[in-house]
Amino acid sequence: MKRSWWKEGVVYQIYPRSFKDSNADGVGDLRGIIEKLDYIASLGIDIVWLNPIYSSPNKDNGYDIRDYENIMEEFGSLADFDELVEGFHKRGIRLVMDLVVNHSSSEHAWFKESRTSKASPKRDWYIWKKGVDGGPPNGWQACFGGSAWEFDEGSGEYYLHLFAPEQPDLNWENPEVRHNVYAMMRRWFRRGVDGFRMDVITLLSKDPSYRELAPGEGMFSPTAPYVYGPRLHEFVKEMRREALDGFDVMTVGEAPGTTLEKALDLVGEERGELDMLFQFELMGVDYIDGDKWRQRPIDLVEMKRIIERWQRGMYGQAWNSNYFMNHDQPRSVSRFGDDVAYRVESAKALLLLNLSLGGTPYIYQGEELGMTNVAFDSISDYRDVDTLNYYKEALAAGISEVEAMKSIHYMSRDNARTPMQWSAGRNAGFSEARPWIGVNPDHVTVNVENEESDTASVLNFTRAMIRFRKGHPVLVYGSFELLAREDPRLFAFLREGEGERLLVEINMSGDFTEGAAEGLSATTLLTGHGVAGVATPRTLGPWEARISALS
Ligand code: NOJ
Repeated sequence: MKRSWWKEGVVYQIYPRSFKDSNADGVGDLRGIIEKLDYIASLGIDIVWLNPIYSSPNKDNGYDIRDYENIMEEFGSLADFDELVEGFHKRGIRLVMDLVVNHSSSEHAWFKESRTSKASPKRDWYIWKKGVDGGPPNGWQACFGGSAWEFDEGSGEYYLHLFAPEQPDLNWENPEVRHNVYAMMRRWFRRGVDGFRMDVITLLSKDPSYRELAPGEGMFSPTAPYVYGPRLHEFVKEMRREALDGFDVMTVGEAPGTTLEKALDLVGEERGELDMLFQFELMGVDYIDGDKWRQRPIDLVEMKRIIERWQRGMYGQAWNSNYFMNHDQPRSVSRFGDDVAYRVESAKALLLLNLSLGGTPYIYQGEELGMTNVAFDSISDYRDVDTLNYYKEALAAGISEVEAMKSIHYMSRDNARTPMQWSAGRNAGFSEARPWIGVNPDHVTVNVENEESDTASVLNFTRAMIRFRKGHPVLVYGSFELLAREDPRLFAFLREGEGERLLVEINMSGDFTEGAAEGLSATTLLTGHGVAGVATPRTLGPWEARISALS
């Protein structure tokens, strides 16, 4: 495989709203990130992905953009942005921004113009249709609930919004839309941006038939009529030619509806489309029937099978991106680990897993501390549009308040969005003012200040593991072979290449378990973590994880 900085790099994701507030308004901002540049660099990461920082009315925390070329007022100014870019670059860190162009905000000037009348020159920039029999054009549902069509009284037609009504879908069939987007991207590259994470990129092209979902087809099924639509590859190739070529930048597409086969079409190295994508198979491992609000316990064997399929299926052909959480998902330690009895151990085990897989690892703010899910008692403490809509719909459908809250406690996107925990002090050291969303009460123990001074902390383990990965290119470029496939506790695999053969063993349980070294050549322990003194060389203690060299 070709080598490149984005394959060898480790990405740290920052959700600016919740990272650090510099001006005591309760909302994180760019100057807050600037204050923490040395902390970010101290992790040893190479690339930062910033969630959207563009001007936005924040119906969906910045995923509803009203001006692609300006910074959200609460976050600062373009001058702050330039300083931030310089601060990253001085420290050898590249900056990736979010590109949200499946939809804009309904407050974007383009949409305001588009909705003025059927004759507006921007009418065709969005997707307008006549109603059918006094109702919407078809039965498509929006991701955050309700119909995907909103009736516009003024102009007498419906517009499409696959997300909130305040997030109208742009019409990618219109070349002017596309060329405006490409020009905007180039301006950010010239300003110093090193790449884009592309929001729901697989939804850009809609099937012109606007057919109904087939029976059994879920909202983001690979075959849904707006997932991998007929012109998607054409659009992405055009974007590559017109916006990306000539810049040394990376792209990672958020890719709902992606199967391994579809992934190879979008990110296959020879395809000339995107560099990487985020697939959702692992994130669906605890859903019932694809419904994230109905959850089941995680089956490790299934989890391993998914990871193996992607590790092996992409090998030599395309590049994986690995994540165990992000701003849309629960805290990884609460979901895949054990945040009660083994918070520290299981957080480390998961970080070790992420940092020893093939592909580019993405670490989300606070994951390096082992931050956990929050469980606010009252729905009024939740902020996420998706969570609030679910709550309303669940109660209307007869689900009890207790059940709905239980599911929210586990799955709400706000779990990832509570303020970064800098200290045990007021508001976790995030802000002088009351934060826009409550802090997790566990900040009194789980915070940067505590963990800095503790050599056995998750934070210091993260730093050590990132360093370890850098010293062992086999973890980046090597092959992957799963061991102990049916073992319900052990996640073990071999990585081989670059003149090394490594054995990775992770006990994904709170019980003692046998490792996988039996029958392999002699091993030398290189790194890991465990309960010192209790495990034998072959046995792993609860959530113990280690990497050994095979002779
Ligand atoms: C995916 C983003 O990650 C999520 O936060 C957002 O709500 C939707 N796309 C819509 O933009």
